[in-house]
Amino acid sequence: EKGNFRHFMLKEIFEQPATADLWISRYLPDDLPVEAPVALPFDNSFFDPIEEIQILACGTSRHAAMVGAYLLEQFAGIPTTVFFASEFRYAAPPLAPNTLTIGVTQSGETADTLSALAMEHERRSACNDIAFASRQLGVTNMVESSLARQVSNILDIGAGLEVGVAATKTFLGQLLTFYGLAIMFAARRKARSANEILDLCNQLRSLPKQLRNLIETHNELTEKLSHQFSETKDVIFLGRGINYPIALEAALKLKEISYIHAEGYPAGEMKHGPIALLDKKVAVVSIATKGIVFEKALSNAQEAKARDACLIGIGPKVPETDIFDHLLPIPQVSEWISPLLTIIPMQLLSYHIAAHRGLDVDQPRNLAKSVTVE
Ligand code: F6R
Repeated sequence: EKGNFRHFMLKEIFEQPATADLWISRYLPDDLPVEAPVALPFDNSFFDPIEEIQILACGTSRHAAMVGAYLLEQFAGIPTTVFFASEFRYAAPPLAPNTLTIGVTQSGETADTLSALAMEHERRSACNDIAFASRQLGVTNMVESSLARQVSNILDIGAGLEVGVAATKTFLGQLLTFYGLAIMFAARRKARSANEILDLCNQLRSLPKQLRNLIETHNELTEKLSHQFSETKDVIFLGRGINYPIALEAALKLKEISYIHAEGYPAGEMKHGPIALLDKKVAVVSIATKGIVFEKALSNAQEAKARDACLIGIGPKVPETDIFDHLLPIPQVSEWISPLLTIIPMQLLSYHIAAHRGLDVDQPRNLAKSVTVE
């Protein structure tokens, strides 16, 4: 039940510290050896033959997969490609050897994802060469689902039932799962030092507390800010690097529940066309967290401001972020874990904009919680 919350979506946003708490106690207990720092439900040797990863997913799950791919490549050094499941199904790349295929579906019932996984399994099973054997892993919130029946290795994100059509806490759970996988791959492949691995694990362990503070603060800030969006017709979300998928996810959230036209762009791409859209009626929400693309993200935001767009920033409260008309402040954390924090104001901003417009946030028009047709 909704308890004191007006909508399930808001309740589920507020449940995210608990999602993180549960995930950490289950997968990241602090007594594990440094060679295998994550408690995953299959043998550690599972990871060893894998040279390449492909991830199949749709919608929000695909955005979690994109953060995952960033971590798997940049933290663990393993080449990873993310596909729209619906595209992969009919245009898969040529078979590569020693490949792990990960299917990500919160509901475990998304037809596009299930059929893409089945197709991949079939074409690999038809191959006699062991290097091309089918290895699949399913990431889901529903351990009793079609996905769980179809794929033998399953990782439960354990977010608990999500009622709102807009995925929020399951997205966080999927992100955490990819942190777990990236840490395991990095440890097994010795792609990172024991210290770097321990450091990331400890940062994840401090996440629930940070999320609690962040959700309280941003719930108030974004509610106030939402009033300024009463007439807004277009919003552009900018992010770079590990936060680019968060810009995509923010745009998806906003369009699905508020019906406002929204686009997510890698900030550096604006100058190659989309900047022509900007004028004072367009709102630009820019993620600028400390890290390798901080200065670049700020200068991309500056370019938007020069076109009179209303500029909202998500980043640390430091002198450099004074350029924003409004700042939704994020604590200074390492770039690796920043998406787990930047997603919070994004979810809350979409929620409050839609709620302020009086829309049916939990059951947006034309959408269903699971899409069981291809
Ligand atoms: C977004 C949303 C959809 C789903 C997509 C995949 O809030 O709900 O974009 O993410 O339909 O669903 P699952 O994860 O169940 O495969």
